[in-house]
Amino acid sequence: MTEVINQSVIEQALRQYHDPYLGMDLVSAQCVRNIVINGVDVRVDLLMRYPCGRLSEGIARTLQDALEDLPGVMSATVTLAWHVEAMPAQANLPAMSGISNIIAVASGKGGVGKSTVTANLALALAAEGARVGVLDADIYGPSQGVMFGIAGGVRPEMMTEGEQQFFVPIESHGVQVMSMAFLVTDNTPMIWRGPMVSGALQQLLTQTHWEHLDYLMVDMPPGTGDIQLTLAQRVPVVGSLIVTTPQDLALLDARKGIEMFRKVDVPVLGVVENMATHTCTNCGHTEHLFGEGGGAILADEYDTELLVSLPLTVSIREQADSGCPTVIAEPDGEIAMIYRELARRMAAQLSVRNSEAPAPPTINISDD
Ligand SMILES: Nc1ncnc2c1ncn2[C@@H]1O[C@H](COP(=O)(O)OP(=O)(O)O)[C@@H](O)[C@H]1O
Ligand SMILES: [Mg+2]
Repeated sequence: MTEVINQSVIEQALRQYHDPYLGMDLVSAQCVRNIVINGVDVRVDLLMRYPCGRLSEGIARTLQDALEDLPGVMSATVTLAWHVEAMPAQANLPAMSGISNIIAVASGKGGVGKSTVTANLALALAAEGARVGVLDADIYGPSQGVMFGIAGGVRPEMMTEGEQQFFVPIESHGVQVMSMAFLVTDNTPMIWRGPMVSGALQQLLTQTHWEHLDYLMVDMPPGTGDIQLTLAQRVPVVGSLIVTTPQDLALLDARKGIEMFRKVDVPVLGVVENMATHTCTNCGHTEHLFGEGGGAILADEYDTELLVSLPLTVSIREQADSGCPTVIAEPDGEIAMIYRELARRMAAQLSVRNSEAPAPPTINISDD
């Protein structure tokens, strides 16, 4: 007796793979674009909506094996592609040309590792194959130039398009970087008033020629005052990340950050807990320096997610300070893995928000 292979049998086999980032199987996530059944040969084309360049081969192989295990299937081919869709920004803010998704990285206070997280996360997204930019909007303490190893005094080139002049972002480690620090000289007074800051940053954002970015990560100024609120209102942001240490005080500040984004209808994609643990390099003992579980409690309280928890290590600081952040310096290390996890979780989280139901898959059954 020959087994009958049909769409539902194929779908059932595909459902065996549960995507940890989407929190569901790929049939439920509407990632199946095409199923072709040709006698005993099956072909499935999948389209993911978050960058997963490093995962795609493994997922395709897993599913291919699952399909080939089906009685009645001789050979299976699974292709997996991904594409980052542009998500809608806050009400009535038009999207910016050249950028699909602007994400604000914020913290209630300075020194919690916001810039370090921004740089490493941008590099982790790029490592998955995404096109990524970083805008250093921390005008009082710009640090992306240093983190990306861009020498002091390097100035962005200018280009003209139509009647308009644009800055060309400075590319480093495959990421397009722009910072007010690239434009000022040592003699420029850094005494900015609120309206000047938000005006200047908006100008910097719109007068930079970003090249087809899937994501622009904005390293926001620390705090939740007028400058931050104005930025959160005026820049077409699709989501925000809150960086905090598990310390009580930082958590209190992080709350204000979450509330600020809620006020302006920017979804909080999650909380990143930084400097959560320290492992002694001598004895290997791990300690929770600032208490345990704070990030998770905070995330729970605000109905968002604790995306990852990062340890405090000397290498994270040294590598960031030397212009070669950990994701680049130790791409296969434990910290880089956490950042890749963060990149996928954040991107997947964004893709399921506001996502319109895509067209149903096309099923082709031929028997020749
Ligand atoms: N997980 C970490 N482990 C060790 N040092 C860190 C870590 N995260 C950040 N740092 C260091 O702490 C300092 C402040 O980090 P930074 O990213 O500049 O904070 P922020 O942008 O919030 O002010 C920097 O010297 C940075 O290298
Ligand atoms: Mg900073």
